[in-house]
Amino acid sequence: MTLVLGIESSCDETAVALVDTDRTIVAQRIASQEAEHAPYGGVVPEIAARAHAERLAPMIEAVLGEAGVKLGDCAAVAATAGPGLIGGVMVGLVSAKALAMASDVPLIAINHLEGHALSPRLADPDLEFPYLLLLVSGGHCQILAVEGVGQYRRLATTIDDALGEAFDKTAKILGLGYPGGPKVEKLALEGDPTAVPLPRPLLGSKEPHFSFAGLKSAVLRAHETGEHSAADLAASFQQAAIDCLIDRLKHALAESGAMPNLVVAGGVAANRRVRTALEDFAHANAMGFSAPPLALCTDNAAMIAWAGCERLPLGEFAPLDFAAKPRWPL
Ligand code: KG4
Ligand code: ZN
Repeated sequence: MTLVLGIESSCDETAVALVDTDRTIVAQRIASQEAEHAPYGGVVPEIAARAHAERLAPMIEAVLGEAGVKLGDCAAVAATAGPGLIGGVMVGLVSAKALAMASDVPLIAINHLEGHALSPRLADPDLEFPYLLLLVSGGHCQILAVEGVGQYRRLATTIDDALGEAFDKTAKILGLGYPGGPKVEKLALEGDPTAVPLPRPLLGSKEPHFSFAGLKSAVLRAHETGEHSAADLAASFQQAAIDCLIDRLKHALAESGAMPNLVVAGGVAANRRVRTALEDFAHANAMGFSAPPLALCTDNAAMIAWAGCERLPLGEFAPLDFAAKPRWPL
């Protein structure tokens, strides 16, 4: 058994997991801060950092206790070192440094995006490099050619909002509250995706990138006319977003050349409509399709521990003065 302890605290989930390099999630805990942030309609960085600071140590204790292992039995401690809300990242990273120092275990500093990017390999032992990755979360919307651990070629990114952010803002416009993505998805089930004419920003563009700000503004304007039900708006928004994803993937695939697999990761990958559309696109292009189980899509520590497992053979350990990075492109 080769165990890595993972710590995630870059946004509003406090998470700890112990993962074996053989892909077993030995123990894990996730504490959502949804209730703390809901009254503000979004994540408040100061509240997030305080909540991580209160919860993390007992959660680490619980995970190690449940697994019946001591920290010194672990091959490494892996912590998200960015990108994300800096206060929260610092809480997780400093905790990991203290554990690493006290137990003489190496520290691995993980890029949160790399955690998402490699998470499909935790769930799917047959998923080999390279793969075309659509990374869609609250803070990021990218297409990457994943060629190996640490080898990521960015083919597209968003020029304004991330897709998860657009889901969250649409939810806010429709009065659904925070967090918005799952609520928009649920309401969209009752709506007609063709009911509201909405723009598909950058569709067919020669540029590779995404843009969702105009779509969100169009949802706001359509909502303000009072002519459409919230369900029709949710369904039409979701469909417009999916059309954009597929169009941009076509562009990226032309750019990357043939890829054996399409993989989706990040919080928006939890959306069933999105997954189905991507799976259809993959099959139409003779690609395999892989998406992590829903619990591995949104922020969690198993993906951070797994990224640590993947990095272990590289032997690139972080010094104890490794700085937390609020911005850290892959
Ligand atoms: O990966 P994640 O948990 O955190 C970041 O690293 O950003 O992604 C969170 C984002 C939020 O914007 C949330 O609304 C979105 O993922 N999300 C969804 C769904 N579940 C989560 N968006 C659409 N449909 C969902 N079912
Ligand atoms: Zn994330």
